[in-house]
Amino acid sequence: MAIHESDHAAQKLTLPAITEMARRGERLVMVTAYDAPSARLADTAGVDIVLVGDSAGTTMLGYDSTVPVTMDEMLLFTRAVSRATRRALIVADMPLGSYQISEETAVTNAIRFAKEAGADAVKLEGAGRTLTRIGGIIDAGIAVMGHIGLTPQSATKLGGYKAQGRTAAAARRLIEEAQALERAGCFSIVLEAMPATVASRITEAVQIPTIGIGAGANCGGQVLVWHDLLGLIPGPTPRFVKQYADTASTIRGALETYAREVRSGTFPEDRHTYGMPEAEREQLESQLNPRRPTGARR
Ligand code: KIV
Repeated sequence: MAIHESDHAAQKLTLPAITEMARRGERLVMVTAYDAPSARLADTAGVDIVLVGDSAGTTMLGYDSTVPVTMDEMLLFTRAVSRATRRALIVADMPLGSYQISEETAVTNAIRFAKEAGADAVKLEGAGRTLTRIGGIIDAGIAVMGHIGLTPQSATKLGGYKAQGRTAAAARRLIEEAQALERAGCFSIVLEAMPATVASRITEAVQIPTIGIGAGANCGGQVLVWHDLLGLIPGPTPRFVKQYADTASTIRGALETYAREVRSGTFPEDRHTYGMPEAEREQLESQLNPRRPTGARR
């Protein structure tokens, strides 16, 4: 459902509305965004949930992983996204270190996302210690999205960026983690990089919507990273990425044309420049060159 720029005053999707859509069997559409223009495009294209992912660390900030991302960086991105989003639910990713240390830190940081940056919900990775943080955040009035499977903040511990749950025992663990996250009060869970069968069994085992990324089609919705979906970063992408556009080539082509036109003097043209009333121009000429008779043409 695309929403036109002109009706960008579209009604805000609330958490109960998202839950109701999922209950009706509508697949939820989630995409990451980290700045105002991207969020506006996602929102007007009818995306249901905008995730301000800590993938911003690699896509926007040039880090090698999501590990170095800070609260200040995530707050900046989330503020930009919420200024431009009218309809979509905004979920802010809590970066590594913002929720692991203590319940108090987790609640304080979740409140910052809601209060200072306009997030509707926060996302936390994992189901170990994370489980003990969720209740406090929800008690503070902030909705929580879970995230299991490949959890990039702990990729080193998981042995790299690899699919998870590929043995029966590991798959059972993921199902139990999802059920524990549901019991803890999450309104939804991201399932990242796991066999489709496992994601499907998790989706059947919980009442809340699952949102898959590299988890097959039998999830309650799907999420992709903005730069992957739009082909903004040249080079190989993970198996689960579908590139819906080759934006990097379009941008590079435009920049090369711009550079060529600047160098050859074909940009700017008359239509890109400002005029001046003839009388004013003549007056300026005579001020700069007093011996030249007024009205003299160049
Ligand atoms: O940070 C992120 O973009 C994410 C998605 C991949 C789910 O967590």
